Amino acid sequence: MSNKTFYITTPIYYPSGNPHIGHCYTTVACDSIARYKRMQGYDVMFLTGTDEHGQKIEEKAAEQGVTPKQYVDDIVKIFKNLWSYMNISYDRYIRTTDDYHVEAVQKIFKALYDKGYIYKGEYKGKYCTPCESFWTESQLDENGCCPECHREVKEAKEESYFFKMSPFAERIEKLLLETDYLRPKTRAQELVNNFIKPGLEDLCVSRTSFKWGIPVTFDEKHVVYVWIDALSNYITALGYENSAHNDYEKFWPADVHMVAKDIMRFHAIIWPAMLMALDLPLPKHLAVHGWITFNGQKMSKSLGNVIDPLVLGERYGADSIRYHIMREMALGSDSSFSNKIMIDRINSDLANDLGNLVSRTVAMVIKYFDGTLPADREADELDKELISMAESLRANVDKYVDETQLNNALAEIFKVISRANKYIDETAPWVLAKDESKKARLATVLYNLLESIRISTTLLSCFMPTTMPKVWEQIGAEEGLITYENAGKFGVLPANVTVKKGEVLFPRLDIDKETEELNAILLKNAPASEDVDKANLTPISDTINIEDFGKVDLRVAEVKSCEKVPKAKKLLCLQLDDGFGTRQVVSGIAKWYAPEDLVGKKIIVVANLAPAKLCGVESQGMIVAADVGEDARVIFVDKDIPNGSKLR
Ligand code: ME8
Repeated sequence: MSNKTFYITTPIYYPSGNPHIGHCYTTVACDSIARYKRMQGYDVMFLTGTDEHGQKIEEKAAEQGVTPKQYVDDIVKIFKNLWSYMNISYDRYIRTTDDYHVEAVQKIFKALYDKGYIYKGEYKGKYCTPCESFWTESQLDENGCCPECHREVKEAKEESYFFKMSPFAERIEKLLLETDYLRPKTRAQELVNNFIKPGLEDLCVSRTSFKWGIPVTFDEKHVVYVWIDALSNYITALGYENSAHNDYEKFWPADVHMVAKDIMRFHAIIWPAMLMALDLPLPKHLAVHGWITFNGQKMSKSLGNVIDPLVLGERYGADSIRYHIMREMALGSDSSFSNKIMIDRINSDLANDLGNLVSRTVAMVIKYFDGTLPADREADELDKELISMAESLRANVDKYVDETQLNNALAEIFKVISRANKYIDETAPWVLAKDESKKARLATVLYNLLESIRISTTLLSCFMPTTMPKVWEQIGAEEGLITYENAGKFGVLPANVTVKKGEVLFPRLDIDKETEELNAILLKNAPASEDVDKANLTPISDTINIEDFGKVDLRVAEVKSCEKVPKAKKLLCLQLDDGFGTRQVVSGIAKWYAPEDLVGKKIIVVANLAPAKLCGVESQGMIVAADVGEDARVIFVDKDIPNGSKLR
């Protein structure tokens, strides 16, 4: 094995519901990078797993009348089944209920305690009795109530252990601002402003109000806070503080942790602080991607808008789904899922560009040369651009894979595929075929096409592992020729290569018919409203009459500009066009939306709400949003509804 190592991780997922296409994105992206690095000759460790402790799991299990372990065991099977279906080549799967992990987390907690970074204190906060949850002042909603159920909270105290974060503030600030740890780097300043500049607060790292967690060895009524337990997985899975594995020295520090933006803070601040406190090296990169959204909202189980990857895979094949989600997501931005866009993409990129290139080229070699090219060659100026693009493709893809910009890596590969299709039009092999004296030229054109296909599909095979071997069979590329080294050079296939007609790689889809059918299938498979997580729903309020409702003036408005309110972590200040003029509204949604997520969108505003000052900034009304678990989701409306339209 090579002495170059590469360690990549996905988050460990909560087994609190079935995995969906959002979970697939991170896992498929990490899998593609892991495959690419293996192809480059690295000794790779690709880790994924499940994060199985915590109050929510305990509650869900109780609802179903099973133990938490029984509950998670069932869901873990579903996760593993999906990963096998999607051809995820993980090297290790960690469950935080594994004995070795439990033992190691207990040792980590004790080590932090012994070093003086964890101390016992009192958690003074606001307690919501119906939700059995503690909140800090800054987590409360705009009215100072529980951010989950919006009922009143009371002052309360709970004995807890705390992790001192402040000693690491300066080093973390440098890590974020002065190194390329965080990708994209544009998010670094926002983290520093929101969490470090106001003073890093000590973190409450134990709970006594529920049992389903890792007990603190020296104080057994406490269980370790689920994030301390979860983040440790990246080192315990390698054998840190346990004897189940022996790979820590070899693979730590990790090369890439990949996560979505909702858990960036834990990986950008808390995890480095833990490692600093333990005197361990820091991971090299944290790649943060956006959400896959559906109708403008994060895809999540509690919203009931999840897309089941197995349903899509059955229809189009796992490779097409892998391709689509990776091609759509640009690092750092959200990617909106749409059946139509997916079908369009499968048709245009996979069926038309790639599938057609392979089938046309192979068919021409069969038609003009009975399947085996003659060795005579005749080059032409026309060949130069295609050959040089194919020869430099590997270096371009390397760069984007190293920068975790997989959409761009795929775009580079498809540039060569498109160029090869254009080359067919330019060289017109069917015209050359009519002229006996042009046989050598015709053979050269077809050989160049086969070589372009070999190079692009060798690189593409890391992203789409099942289909590419079928291509190699068709273009006569023996197994030994498909290597990373060969992907960097032109002229590897034997001059007298023999091709073989094969199955259609990606059948062409009738876009309208397919979109309609898929919409219907997904609707049928969508969880019934009674299956959507009821635990998160606020009870319906007391009845009002129509006159009461009529008093609320709801209007459609467009967000013209938006910025953060200085010194108020939760607030955004929006300038709206409400059809009558400009209106300024302050909203406590900064945790879920960046200003650029909102500008240009149409929203609903409570237009006749008495103006109020929030953190000293005047707010003329309120934006309508939905509570989804711990999150808030702004309600967006169709772009074609005019500003100022009244809701009724
Ligand atoms: O947060 N779009 O687990 P989790 C894109 N257990 N990615 C999505 C997504 C979406 N709509 N929905 C989920 C946890 N993801 C913790 C992690 S790590 C030490 C502990 C992906 O099951 C994305 O990678 O809520 C996100 O970071 C992860 O699932 C969160 O999964």
